[in-house]
Amino acid sequence: KQTPWIAPSILAADFARLGEECESVLAAGADVIHFDVMDNHYVPNLTIGPMVCKALRQHGITAPIDVHLMVSPVDDLIGMFADAGASMITFHPEASRHVDRSLQLIRDAGCQAGLVLNPATSPDCLEYVMDKLDMILLMSVNPGFGGQKFIPGTLGKIERVRRLIDDSGRDIRLEVDGGVSENNIGEVAAAGADTFVAGSAIFGKDDYRAVIDAMRAQLPA
Ligand code: DX5
Ligand code: ZN
Repeated sequence: KQTPWIAPSILAADFARLGEECESVLAAGADVIHFDVMDNHYVPNLTIGPMVCKALRQHGITAPIDVHLMVSPVDDLIGMFADAGASMITFHPEASRHVDRSLQLIRDAGCQAGLVLNPATSPDCLEYVMDKLDMILLMSVNPGFGGQKFIPGTLGKIERVRRLIDDSGRDIRLEVDGGVSENNIGEVAAAGADTFVAGSAIFGKDDYRAVIDAMRAQLPA
């Protein structure tokens, strides 16, 4: 099993001070930076692209950057994010015409690859690409906005996908994104997740260390 990772979503950070915000959460104990890319096409919101990822690298951020693509089409952005310093790149299968090819493009570009399943998306699409996955991201809200409420039905899906990963015998991270906070991270971990995205629950507080510590205290060592 993977060591647990806490992945603050910078969607909830102060964009005017993004470099400092990343430094602050990393100094407060975060493991990776979760980087939400929205295109006003796949989701009804618009955020940040490869130039901002590159700027964070140039600012001196060395932690893994976990790029969550909520865009369609997907493929053109893969090389751009790899060049910009992305560590992992995940995308939604329905946003790509050829899922297997997109996953391979990510690995060929030297990044870890993953698929993101919306709350209503079946895990069936994972079956024939398990060997191309380093990460599976389960959305516990509908993508597009931070600060939404965790959809409780996700817990059973986490358990199911945990079993799929265990049965595959592969080292695949199981990440959960949306409405995760110090109030439910224990349940999300118990269901089988090992990577926890949290935006508003972390950046909405003044003391990043206190909230990250409170989350970490509920995770297995
Ligand atoms: C939603 C994004 C999430 C979001 C999480 O589309 O993928 O990463 O920012 O924010 P919170 O933790 O506030 O739900
Ligand atoms: Zn995300």
